[in-house]
Amino acid sequence: MKKILVTGGLGFIGSHTVVELQNEGFEVVIIDDLSNSSESVLDGITSITNKKPFFEKLDLKEKSSVENFFKKHNDISGVIHFAASKAVGESVENPLLYYENNLNTLIYMLKEVLNLKESNFIFSSSCTVYGQAEKMPITEEAPTQPAESPYGNTKQVGEEIITDTCKVSPNLNAIALRYFNPIGAHPSANIGELPIGVPQNLVPYITQTGAGLRESLSVFGNDYPTPDGTCIRDYIHVVDLAKAHVIALQRLLDNKNDSNFETFNVGTGVGSSVLEVITAFDNVSNQSLNYKFAPRREGDVISAFADTEKANTVLGWKAKSSLNDAIGSAWKWEQKIRNL
Ligand code: WQD
Repeated sequence: MKKILVTGGLGFIGSHTVVELQNEGFEVVIIDDLSNSSESVLDGITSITNKKPFFEKLDLKEKSSVENFFKKHNDISGVIHFAASKAVGESVENPLLYYENNLNTLIYMLKEVLNLKESNFIFSSSCTVYGQAEKMPITEEAPTQPAESPYGNTKQVGEEIITDTCKVSPNLNAIALRYFNPIGAHPSANIGELPIGVPQNLVPYITQTGAGLRESLSVFGNDYPTPDGTCIRDYIHVVDLAKAHVIALQRLLDNKNDSNFETFNVGTGVGSSVLEVITAFDNVSNQSLNYKFAPRREGDVISAFADTEKANTVLGWKAKSSLNDAIGSAWKWEQKIRNL
């Protein structure tokens, strides 16, 4: 049984990936500093898979702790590195926190991965690296744009750090997955997204409004050059996204990769407007969401959706869930955690 380290494994995408890894027979070890997650997520994972993953609370910024961890676990065959801070606005307020949390930790991890017998590494990147792309759908060859935020910059620089390291370390095999907009929850509703405070992202804001925690959703801008005037994104079900990680890991373990650093878009290929997401919510929840139009939000791109050809044909992965499925699972989760 191959042992896989998942950093940030109690977070939103990490926890869903742990479930898919366990379902495929991997032994999973998790490290997480619990800064944006809770140890109770372990119970949620275990209730789905009947296997409790090993967990150690560890702050990846503490280099010596990372070194000690790898001394104890030198039989790891692959690392999926989710642990990072992800609030765009907070990163503008506190850039050094973001550079330290997202880049120092990446460097410490890579140093350790290089010492493993099997140096397989998967990095959480983001469609934010493309900025406002000229052509839709966005291919992996689309040029990256100067980042809108320190958060976005940590994803770009993160990819560059891996590129440079792979050039001089032929044994290192890495894949960066560029996520579009992950949403939803496990169909069991035993794990899902747990935003702290007021959600900044669309779908948790919608489900919290539907649950009565927020009065009304502000739709940021209805004068964009899109069919209904609202922004377009590629919303991907977190379970589909989690499965992409397992397939990418298997590609590395089987040495099927074409080069020692590859990047793949992970999206559905379908663009949905904010109003379409609201309609999907209304359909799955049998209610009519309270929303109002508000000014544009600074830094938002007009439209971003993935060209999934490379992920489909080279990686052999394809998103299966519809927008309604994904929103339905997010709503089921919200109802469960609010005891509705
Ligand atoms: C989606 C759409 C908003 C909230 C961000 C990061 C990205 C990635 C995912 C994370 C936009 C609109 C939102 C609201 C709204 N990183 N909206 N009212 O901005 O595409 O991507 O999250 O880890 O790097 O930038 O996602 O969910 O915030 O917004 O109208 O209250 O919903 O304007 O069009 P975004 P989002």
